[in-house]
Amino acid sequence: MALTFDRHRRLRSSAAMRSLVRENHVRVEDLIYPIFVVEGSNIKEEIPSMPGVYHFSLDRLNEEIDEVAALGIQSVLVFGVPEHKDACGSEAYNDDAVTQRAIRQIKERHPELVVIADTCLCQYTDHGHCGVLRDGDVVNDESLTLLAKTAVSQAKAGADIIAPSNMMDGFVAAIRAALDEAGFTHVPIMSYAVKYASSFYGPFRDAAHSAPKSGDRKAYQMDPANAREGLREAASDVAEGADFLMVKPGLAFMDMVLRLRESFHLPIVVYNVSAEYSMVKAAAANGWIDEERIVMETMVGFKRAGADLIITYHAKDVAKWLAR
Ligand code: PBG
Repeated sequence: MALTFDRHRRLRSSAAMRSLVRENHVRVEDLIYPIFVVEGSNIKEEIPSMPGVYHFSLDRLNEEIDEVAALGIQSVLVFGVPEHKDACGSEAYNDDAVTQRAIRQIKERHPELVVIADTCLCQYTDHGHCGVLRDGDVVNDESLTLLAKTAVSQAKAGADIIAPSNMMDGFVAAIRAALDEAGFTHVPIMSYAVKYASSFYGPFRDAAHSAPKSGDRKAYQMDPANAREGLREAASDVAEGADFLMVKPGLAFMDMVLRLRESFHLPIVVYNVSAEYSMVKAAAANGWIDEERIVMETMVGFKRAGADLIITYHAKDVAKWLAR
């Protein structure tokens, strides 16, 4: 008796056949590479918990930027790590601070690179929170004023996109209004719309010296258990004028990438965060996994979930593998 069933394997029979029916692709244009800039001179220092990722002083930054550009990566996300920190994060909105200088330098050297500025206060405040701290609480509306000033200062330095990661309510509205008023109507906002209070940021906080000195970020970043709340966050950001929506972290939150993809028509960005990177690096260093295949599978997984763009510390490696 003949069995009736589907022969799915017909379309998997050879590399060429598989290539013909491949639904998703990772392109070098999809990648955004984060860069950490510090004060001082002649510094290229590996971040211990993020092998292959470095702190650069401005006089060494061109090496990195030239390499990124030569690999065909079109966009970088700049994190400045200032020496001076205070209660209100004043280096964040100082036009001459390390972040602003880095942005200017990158745009001068490679005007074609899309430079994204991370807009937050945690690297700049002595208490390490993403806004103004009062009686142990991060006060929302006062923080907005400082974040808006920060965004304008970053736009003045030449940032092509403002990416606010602070998770205050109304941050898109406040930043949009301030940018418009300062004449930057053309500068888009890439909102960290769905950002969870995640343990996956651990290595980044070493890199950015931005861990909170007391408490945690749970009163402003989202509970990892919540999905519907993420849709409400994203809807607010869209209403306030966001141009891109981001989901962060990526791997444990791929469902949110898909949900945003299905609910909104803006470009969706996923942040493949520091601990996701470090775990792969650690396992690869032990010979436990095939790094290239693991990373490429992760990247195409992000695309399949619906991400248009991927912020990843693997970007330079991915660009090299794609070029082969
Ligand atoms: C700033 C910010 C963080 C990350 C990006 N921007 C840290 C945090 O919110 O604590 C994390 C990125 C990563 O882990 O790679 N608020």
